[in-house]
Amino acid sequence: MTYYEQVVEAAAFLKAISSSFHARIGIVLGSGLGATVDAVTDQVMVPYTETPYFPRSTVAGHKGRIIAGRLNGVPVVMMQGRVHFYEGYTPQQVTFPMRVLGALGLRAVVLTNAAGAITEDCRVGQLVALADHINQMGWNPLTGANEPRFGFRPGGGRRFFDMTEAYSKDLRALAKEAAVEEGFPLEEGVYVATTGPNFETPAEIRAFRALGATLVGMSTVPETIVARHMGLEVLGISCVTNMAAGLNPTPLSHEDVDAVGQVVEVRLAALLKRLAPKLAARTDAQP
Ligand code: HPA
Repeated sequence: MTYYEQVVEAAAFLKAISSSFHARIGIVLGSGLGATVDAVTDQVMVPYTETPYFPRSTVAGHKGRIIAGRLNGVPVVMMQGRVHFYEGYTPQQVTFPMRVLGALGLRAVVLTNAAGAITEDCRVGQLVALADHINQMGWNPLTGANEPRFGFRPGGGRRFFDMTEAYSKDLRALAKEAAVEEGFPLEEGVYVATTGPNFETPAEIRAFRALGATLVGMSTVPETIVARHMGLEVLGISCVTNMAAGLNPTPLSHEDVDAVGQVVEVRLAALLKRLAPKLAARTDAQP
């Protein structure tokens, strides 16, 4: 069975469980950012372990389940927990859940993550909308033969495609509107992705700053690439859990990142709840 057929089968499996998996909006919740799930009504929850071909998450704080339901009345499909390259998965496995979201018929996807801040003007606990990214992972999930059938949305499925607006300007504007309504600012940032699992060295952080990055993390970029390959619109939201190496008086720890995540995930949930109807109004208006 080909990778494409596995993706289609996994999507068909979910759709057979519930028609709620026929949503237009998807949300991927990153490291310890699961609080939004509590706001979802009419939940249908399927663990990755029970979904055909899905990779299993091995990191503490990454639950690994797919949730369909309504967020502020809007039908959404959520992936709670992702798998990372550093866990030993292949690029195809890392992006399998995103491919399945495409096969479900999604139009727009919100990718969230925990990230370190590379510039002094970012504050811990802040939410930042991604304006762009830099792929420093050293690999690309699209390496290999192109599969045009992954073009689930108009313009998708191409071997070569434009990444000028990897992160949709319009979706970013809607997210800013939602943040203002919630009473907090939403800054813009450029996210650089490394493979991890170690945090960066101070020299690497200085290098990334010189390259124009403002945030650093170990996810999202592969998902953005395949989402854009499928023709989906992407909104990226980083939760700043720490100042990056060299900007931090104390050594970085996964526990500290998780602890801040627990505070900021509440704000993220409020933002996403406020944002959902705005995203729905936009995607419903699309052909
Ligand atoms: N570096 C890389 N990934 C991260 C960080 C960081 O400082 N914080 C949260 N995820």
